[in-house]
Amino acid sequence: MSASEQAFGVYVHWPFCLSKCPYCDFNSHVRREPIDEQRFARAFAAEIAATAARVPGRTVSTIFFGGGTPSLMQPSTIAAVLDAIGRHWQVAADAEITLEANPTSVEATRFRGYRTAGVNRVSLGVQALDDRVLAELGRLHSAREALDAVDVARSVFGRYSFDLIYARPNQEPQAWASELTTALGEAGEHLSLYQLTVEPETPFAALHAAGKLRLPDQDTARALYDTTQEICAAHGLPAYEISNHARPGGECRHNLVYWRSHEYAGIGPGAHGRLNIGAPDRDGERHATATEKRPETWLSRVELQGDGLVDDDELTREERSDEFLLMGLRLAEGIDLARYAEIAGRPLDPDRIAVLHQHGFVETTGTGRLRVTLPGFPILDAVVADLAA
Ligand SMILES: C[S@@+](CC[C@H](N)C(=O)[O-])C[C@H]1O[C@@H](n2cnc3c(N)ncnc32)[C@H](O)[C@@H]1O
Ligand code: SF4
Repeated sequence: MSASEQAFGVYVHWPFCLSKCPYCDFNSHVRREPIDEQRFARAFAAEIAATAARVPGRTVSTIFFGGGTPSLMQPSTIAAVLDAIGRHWQVAADAEITLEANPTSVEATRFRGYRTAGVNRVSLGVQALDDRVLAELGRLHSAREALDAVDVARSVFGRYSFDLIYARPNQEPQAWASELTTALGEAGEHLSLYQLTVEPETPFAALHAAGKLRLPDQDTARALYDTTQEICAAHGLPAYEISNHARPGGECRHNLVYWRSHEYAGIGPGAHGRLNIGAPDRDGERHATATEKRPETWLSRVELQGDGLVDDDELTREERSDEFLLMGLRLAEGIDLARYAEIAGRPLDPDRIAVLHQHGFVETTGTGRLRVTLPGFPILDAVVADLAA
């Protein structure tokens, strides 16, 4: 792939939440004291400067404020971070600038401020449209409040998306079909639909271990997945990635940067990046970066040394090609086999492809792409492991 086709994304992590949801293992922290946002904004700017010194001259195509809960940030803090990005890199005129928001009424009052600061897309964590379920998920908003926030998002931003979690305790396919249909009535161009994962060391993991969380069995989970695909496709939002649905053209361009193995900078506590350092084709020397997770430690590190890096490893050919498979096969468009061969230094094993093909788990396209089929998606990990072996 040539340099001009490469997208460049900037991910900015805001690590604070008002409370910790019992299923969540994201790098998010609850603090009693007010957060010194100006101090964080200075640290973000310093880390942006340090990163830009390593990968200068890029044109930023996407920016994503993720969390934690970035919708707790003041619009002036968002504006300061965007200003710093614009001082160190060129930002494309049509750059996609997304902010992740929790759908409470307080947060919705800040949406206009974010729009003025330059945010042009919002992604709301609605999670469920049932107040009892929202309470079980430890959410601080009701279904009505979430839908009101979706209304504000629709009127303020050109583009919006929201997230739902399914395959929840005791969830039946018919109830989910009706909830999803209601959700689709409120959706714009994009929806993220995640199957509940019980993450280790969360309160949900403890409940599960104690037999107090009755998750759908394998057949029900499969029925929930199939229902999701059918209903979304019928409403014009097919899956373009295993958990993400969009109308054609409404895909999240920032997340495509990850899935297409393009280049991205990770800014803020616990952020990950992939930087193609010092390589003329920008695809040669690829570094995996990660920053300190604990917000206060990250802050002191940046103030002391200019960045919060704790990992900065050049990826081997094998690591890069495995990652390319793992990320790219999540996409309905699949992977470009020629690019795989370029990264790996050898093509994918045709015999392995043929066996998976016979089982109906993958297909090849006339344009030299390999993609996972609908029956292959529920066993994606096994398909990737087989191809990468
Ligand atoms: C960074 S998180 C949260 C963003 C925002 N703070 C919120 O909660 O609305 C992004 C999304 O991941 C999903 N998610 C988080 N933990 C999950 C889990 N254990 N299983 C499935 N989905 C999860 C939720 O749908 C959430 O909206
Ligand atoms: S799900 Fe969202 S609001 Fe809840 S703890 Fe995780 S990041 Fe925070």
